Amino acid sequence: MNQGKVDVLLGLQWGDEGKGKVVDVLTPHYDVVARFQGGPNAGHTLEFNGEKYVLRSIPSGIFQGGKVNIIGNGVVLAPDLFMEEAKALEASGHPLRERLHISKKAHLIMPTHRVLDAAYEAQKGKNKVGTTGKGIGPTYTDKVSRTGLRVGDILENFPEKYAAAKERHLNIIKSIMGNLDEEQRFALNDQLTHLHIVEKKWLEGVEYLRQFPIVDSEHEINQILRSGKSVLCEGAQGTMLDVDFGSYPFVTSSNTICAGACTGLGIGPNKIGEVFGIMKAYCTRVGAGPFPTELFDETGKKIRDLGHEYGAVTGRERRCGWIDLVALRYSIMVNGVTQLIMMKSDVLDGFDTIKACTSYKVNGVETRDFPYNIEEGIEPVYVELPGWKTDMTKFTCECQFPKAFSDYIAFLEKELETPITIISIGPDREQTIVRNGK
Ligand code: GDP
Ligand code: IMO
Ligand code: MG
Repeated sequence: MNQGKVDVLLGLQWGDEGKGKVVDVLTPHYDVVARFQGGPNAGHTLEFNGEKYVLRSIPSGIFQGGKVNIIGNGVVLAPDLFMEEAKALEASGHPLRERLHISKKAHLIMPTHRVLDAAYEAQKGKNKVGTTGKGIGPTYTDKVSRTGLRVGDILENFPEKYAAAKERHLNIIKSIMGNLDEEQRFALNDQLTHLHIVEKKWLEGVEYLRQFPIVDSEHEINQILRSGKSVLCEGAQGTMLDVDFGSYPFVTSSNTICAGACTGLGIGPNKIGEVFGIMKAYCTRVGAGPFPTELFDETGKKIRDLGHEYGAVTGRERRCGWIDLVALRYSIMVNGVTQLIMMKSDVLDGFDTIKACTSYKVNGVETRDFPYNIEEGIEPVYVELPGWKTDMTKFTCECQFPKAFSDYIAFLEKELETPITIISIGPDREQTIVRNGK
């Protein structure tokens, strides 16, 4: 933790690295926790005291000691889903009204953004991204096209602004429909038929939003920093899903990288302290798009079963594969990662051997650098390491690590030229080992 600084915690792979768990673990060291991008496409899971929570728009610092949590301007917010999430938390004994602050500049995901999301996906046919269907792409598109609605808009002339935006969306949907087949049109028409029901709940959500402090979060966060307090920023998705540096076009629509914390909260780059990069001891991806180290065999299935690799938002199977050090080196570079956090090593506890991809053969030529296009002609080159064959899930100190596991960590640190300071050995808050001397 750095006083007067912002530490950023973000995913280095294709999301679902375990960001929620670690933000919760680190929150006691900070004064404020803030989300800076993404929206309810995120599903951040936390487990403690035998309870399990999945957060989508609310930062994962909400469970620790009454800290202020901020939803920043870079986030896209769906009032209906937000209401559902917040009410469930309050019902389970976690009040948040006063301490969850929402930026006026965060953009609103409208019900018609979700229909548009489905329409664009249908239009892409076999090239579809496999989005979460939460309207993320169309909402960010409106933001960049300078036609979006923001949280601050609910404070003035909202019905007019909403009606105009909805009308515009319906016209686009109508024009897309003309290019779709009958089955796709039927599915979209079904969504449109039920739109009034979704809309009713959405407008209730807008009213509900008014009960929270709606703030100029860039002023608030800079004031917090000026007073010497510390902030932890929680990333969503992962670097390989970043709109600039990820596996484009199979990405999300925001900057998931460290720089996204500057634009998504209104802080200067000189305010960034530590950059925590999170990775799994292996790799997963949900949705379509290239994944060089993907396993299609029994080993991939074994990782999925042992790691319970099913999407927290959509329940979809996550594709599983070996750790990809080429992609990780790239992620570490574009984020300026200062510390690595390794998650889910327990999933590999029973494996005889473990593979790590150290370079790619790109059309037969070996490289350690991440190429422009990873869709075709990529052959991962693996190193095979001995497994540790030890149940580590109840360990409390790195002094208990078997030698093969310590060797694995040392190997990764050397390959990635970055220290691994935290190791997660199970989903629970307690199953976290902070390495001494790091
Ligand atoms: P996030 O989106 O990055 O917050 O990650 P998700 O919550 O979508 O996915 C991570 C999943 O792994 C969740 O089900 C967590 O409860 C679980 N998890 C986190 N850390 C560990 C770990 O060290 N070991 C195991 N077995 N599960 C973990
Ligand atoms: P967290 O924060 C994993 C993926 C989707 C799809 C692509 C674009 O839990 O790590 P979108 O709905 O954003 O337009 O979908 O990005 N995706 C995620 N994959 N974890 C996430 O979030 C994701 N959020 C989006 O599956 O491939
Ligand atoms: Mg997730």
